[in-house]
Amino acid sequence: MPIPQEIIDQVLSRADILDVAKAFHLELKRSGANDFKACCPFHQERTPSFHLNTTRQFYHCFGCGVGGDAVNLVKGLARTDFPGAIRWLGNFYHIPIPEGDDTRDPQERQKSQRRDQGWKLLEEVAGFFQSSLNAPEGKAAREYLQGRGLDEETIRKYRLGYAPNAWDAVCRWALSRGFSQELLMETGIARQSEKSPGNLHDLWKNRVMFPICDELSRVVGFSGRLFTPQEGAKAGKYVNSPDNAFFHKSQILYGFNLARDAFGKAKRAVVCEGQLDVIACHRAGVGEALAAQGTAFTKEHANRLAKARLNRVDLAFDGDAAGLKAIWHTLPLLLARGMNVHLIFLPPGEDPDSLYRRGGPESLRKIMADAHPALPYLLSRLCQETPPDTPEAKASIAQQMLGLYSTISDPLVANGYCQELIQRLSLPSPQAVFDRLAQLRLQEKEAQERGQAPSPPPEALPRQDATAQALFHDLHGVASLAETMLDLCVSYPQVAELWKDLDLGEVMSPQNPVVRALNSLLAGTAEGDWEGAREALFHGELASDTNVSRILGFSAFVQENLTDEILQDKLAKAVEDCQRRLELLELDRQLQAINQELQQNPAPDASLPLLRKSQELARKKALLRKGRQP
Ligand code: CTP
Ligand code: MN
Repeated sequence: MPIPQEIIDQVLSRADILDVAKAFHLELKRSGANDFKACCPFHQERTPSFHLNTTRQFYHCFGCGVGGDAVNLVKGLARTDFPGAIRWLGNFYHIPIPEGDDTRDPQERQKSQRRDQGWKLLEEVAGFFQSSLNAPEGKAAREYLQGRGLDEETIRKYRLGYAPNAWDAVCRWALSRGFSQELLMETGIARQSEKSPGNLHDLWKNRVMFPICDELSRVVGFSGRLFTPQEGAKAGKYVNSPDNAFFHKSQILYGFNLARDAFGKAKRAVVCEGQLDVIACHRAGVGEALAAQGTAFTKEHANRLAKARLNRVDLAFDGDAAGLKAIWHTLPLLLARGMNVHLIFLPPGEDPDSLYRRGGPESLRKIMADAHPALPYLLSRLCQETPPDTPEAKASIAQQMLGLYSTISDPLVANGYCQELIQRLSLPSPQAVFDRLAQLRLQEKEAQERGQAPSPPPEALPRQDATAQALFHDLHGVASLAETMLDLCVSYPQVAELWKDLDLGEVMSPQNPVVRALNSLLAGTAEGDWEGAREALFHGELASDTNVSRILGFSAFVQENLTDEILQDKLAKAVEDCQRRLELLELDRQLQAINQELQQNPAPDASLPLLRKSQELARKKALLRKGRQP
């Protein structure tokens, strides 16, 4: 049985190449903010020539030429085919993959059958809660939901339900349908009674039930809300499923399965706090809303959004102190995944749900559309709190902001914000500020690294890669022009933007895979979708060409620890150099054409103007070679 495409997509969106490398115990050495080196697992070597880049999610070995994405790496290391690699990844990330009938290992087969039973139970319990809501016993809950302005359609769409007012209603029902006690515990639907161990209790009693679904819209858990003044118990307003094999609170985002379709059009996700907020947003047409359900936002949540190919996330939190604290906590997680974060301010004491009820869909939509770039806002806010009119105040603000900037994944973006900070605070020595940022970035990376894998001691200072250095200074002869251009365009959207209208057809062979890759990236950029074209390149067939793979897997132009100024300067030089080489190629092409014509038509009156033209071109060429504009 083939693996369903939606599961493959889910696995691909979850797979992280660094996880794979670590799972196979590659001895990775950091060689840049997002780069690692290791001895190649695919051929014998003593000095590492295997490069792995985490932002690009790509590897390449300079020794044996292999390269690819996370799936290719699993294929190679686990010596398996594509479905095998997907199964390996599914197992690694606890994403259940339906087994085909051909499964040999009976233990595996049993495990997967049990998982399937779990999904089935969760799904059926959701149905049970739904029908309880519609039964006479659900009357009070129905009235509560109506009182909160939820109509029939919404109740159906979000599959809201009711947990009956008894401690064993679900258990009895599920056992009578042949589900086991163990399964009830494993799915978090029941727990051992504290008073009489051995007896099972339902987790929810007399509550309004919100099923929580995963990306495939499978029910994985529940959140139950009190709606009547409770009798004696100290139970919380909401009770959620405990973490178990099906429900991971730190990973799941409520509403993600419904919001995902809206990401593309909205070009953002909106993070709010609770289930009812998500529902209100969706009803108001803000379909891209989701929620971390009252827990602090986690790295896994950020990863999930990043994997959905989002590059903007808006946070709709309370503007109060707790909300602000949540923003300072959440922001670095999202910045580290390359997100452009905006803030949406809700009036004091309100949440999207209350705003919807008070002002209707139109007014909620308006509020959710009013998003402010997070970093400039926080800088302004700090400046309001402590006017930056003493060196101490400036230093304190700078320190806090630089702490945030240091978590931004793209050094260019971090440097851009740093520049703003310097201007805003009129800081006297910009270089010192950039140096501080570079230092913080390094610490940040090291801390991240220690958090993930404590073993390898961080290198004292990143050494500048010798080959990269050489390439920066001498572009000639090392890599072909097309390779250099592709590298620049993959690494820096602004360069692709600059070159998007270039017609390379005349001077470069369109058969060359590197040229084809470059052309597709430039064409995508011309259509306004550099990001998409770049992504397509990494996962398309061209990525398996050894030259393309090398460029995707290792950039000669991305170096950390360069100040913005130096980097801009180097980039400008590289771009200029490429353009000069392009012009040289173009001149060569014209010269060749003239020579051909001369050979065909040697008569003096025809050849004289051609000869003159040829001399002119040769002179231009000589000037260009010396680096001067003709
Ligand atoms: N939450 C939770 N456990 C609690 C309280 C809250 O899991 N004891 C989560 C819920 O997902 C809730 C979110 O945190 O939706 C936000 O909590 P809160 O602001 O208190 O509730 P609201 O979402 O406003 O819910 P309601 O409007 O029903 O009061
Ligand atoms: Mn609320």
